Amino acid sequence: MMVRRFEGKVALVTGASGVVGRASALAYAREGAAVLAAGRDEARLAELVKEIEGSGGRASAYAVDITSSASVAGMVEAAATRYGRLDVALNAAGVFGAVAPLADYDEDTWDDVIAVNLKGVFLSMKHEIAYMRAHGGGVIVNVASNLGAHYRRPGASAYVASKAAVSHLTRTAARDHIADGVRINALSPGPIDSPMSLRPGETREDRDARMKAALPIGRVATPEEIAAAALWLSSEESSFVVGTDHVVDGGAAA
Ligand SMILES: NC(=O)c1ccc[n+]([C@@H]2O[C@H](COP(=O)([O-])OP(=O)(O)OC[C@H]3O[C@@H](n4cnc5c(N)ncnc54)[C@H](OP(=O)(O)O)[C@@H]3O)[C@@H](O)[C@H]2O)c1
Repeated sequence: MMVRRFEGKVALVTGASGVVGRASALAYAREGAAVLAAGRDEARLAELVKEIEGSGGRASAYAVDITSSASVAGMVEAAATRYGRLDVALNAAGVFGAVAPLADYDEDTWDDVIAVNLKGVFLSMKHEIAYMRAHGGGVIVNVASNLGAHYRRPGASAYVASKAAVSHLTRTAARDHIADGVRINALSPGPIDSPMSLRPGETREDRDARMKAALPIGRVATPEEIAAAALWLSSEESSFVVGTDHVVDGGAAA
């Protein structure tokens, strides 16, 4: 029988209406956690909650805008109110923004991407850590990207800058709060089978052909492979792993 690593625990997942967050929320629930599934698209969150409940798990939805401190505070409070605790937070919400040479990169798009990918992770951690350190500790995983701390992607200025920043913000936060019992790491996926890995106008087949040539493993990740890494990083199995940026990229950075 499968060991359920999150039995009795509560996991908060931002970006749960998206590809990685959804796969992770399903995996946490399968392994025994009650899941607070947070995102903006309430219909997709409701569908996910229904699917989790349909297979005997516990979950509820929370509509959040991670660029707003009040909204993020409400999300953390909701986990505590609904389930009485918060053990794990997976901060997976993120946006890609535009692709254009830097001199032509739209300033409003820059502001939006930085607000979600960087300030959103800052605010999420700020409220999650405050709760966790006051309630016996917890574990946080921030989803960065191998495009950032590890690779550049021409034209994706705001995305690459924001993800590099998340990687370093994670290390700083980890050192600030490990003594409070809050263990924090980043997860940097390579390309995943998802709309975000498609270039403008590209089909899935075109993308797969591009990745076959570009990636040592010859294919993109499944959302489940990224969820598996997120679950390991937030489980007791990784209890000595602190302040790392865990790369899961099919060998791209090798
Ligand atoms: N897909 C890839 O190839 C890839 C590779 C490396 C890293 N990543 C990273 O992995 C994470 C998940 O990616 P994904 O492929 O699952 O993307 P996705 O399917 O586009 O999902 C993104 C999620 O972020 C949420 N979000 C965006 N802005 C938000 C805001 N202001 N407040 C709250 N939620 C917000 C979206 O909510 P709504 O949909 O409800 O608006 C959605 O749930 C991202 O951080 C991404 O940068 C992805």
